[in-house]
Amino acid sequence: MKGVVLAGGTGSRLFPLTKITNKHLLPIYDRPMIYYPIQTLVDAGIEDIMVVTGGRNSGDFLRLLANGKSFGLKHINYAYQEGEGGIADALALAEHFSDGKKVCVILGDNIIEGSIRAAADEFRRQDKGAHILLKEVPDAERFGVAEISGGKIVGIEEKPKQPKSNYAVTGIYMYDPSVFTKIQTLVPSSRGELEITDVNNAYIGEGTMGFSFLDGWWTDAGTFESLLRAANLVANSGKKDLTAGAENY
Ligand code: G1P
Repeated sequence: MKGVVLAGGTGSRLFPLTKITNKHLLPIYDRPMIYYPIQTLVDAGIEDIMVVTGGRNSGDFLRLLANGKSFGLKHINYAYQEGEGGIADALALAEHFSDGKKVCVILGDNIIEGSIRAAADEFRRQDKGAHILLKEVPDAERFGVAEISGGKIVGIEEKPKQPKSNYAVTGIYMYDPSVFTKIQTLVPSSRGELEITDVNNAYIGEGTMGFSFLDGWWTDAGTFESLLRAANLVANSGKKDLTAGAENY
């Protein structure tokens, strides 16, 4: 399975921090934000990784990450998203890279305490469909929210005013190669973007969406509150110990 880190967007909710750099290059405690999702993929045994960036600072990703040596990688692939087409539009740029294989997609601002290794291994054994990771949260209206019935996800609503559950859809998604034809059928949402939630609902509609619950804490980092929260979670967890030998970074 290949890995895709989505790190485009304008980061408008973090203005003016994102006026001169990309959100995913901002610090989370002792490392740039994008280090965390890359490490999450590597820890799940995924070594063929593409970073999709955009905006005016995309060249900085190459300077920062280079060929991925600090993650034990031999090389990193890059793609450039023109404009503000949304998460699913960014993912479409990874079609050629995916080369008919399954992909594990992670949003560049999603940081987790634990590992997705077990879910990735389960999905490697699944012959088709998709798998998403859920997390129970107190503020589900900020996220995609899964409705579960009879042990299955029956629908996902994007940032509903009145969530049908407390199960947020985290920004970690595993897809079979049909994801790219599904993206082609999408129409832009009211915010003018191709929504990843619509991709997930397409899998739910055909009955091939699996899910599991993420262990440990999870946060995004796209607002001032969550950016601070992410830094504090990392600072107060064993994750910071990963930086022992930080000179390697
Ligand atoms: C995106 C997705 C949402 C998901 C969230 C996870 O929202 O659209 O479904 O729950 O990421 O971080 P965004 O934060 O890009 O608005």
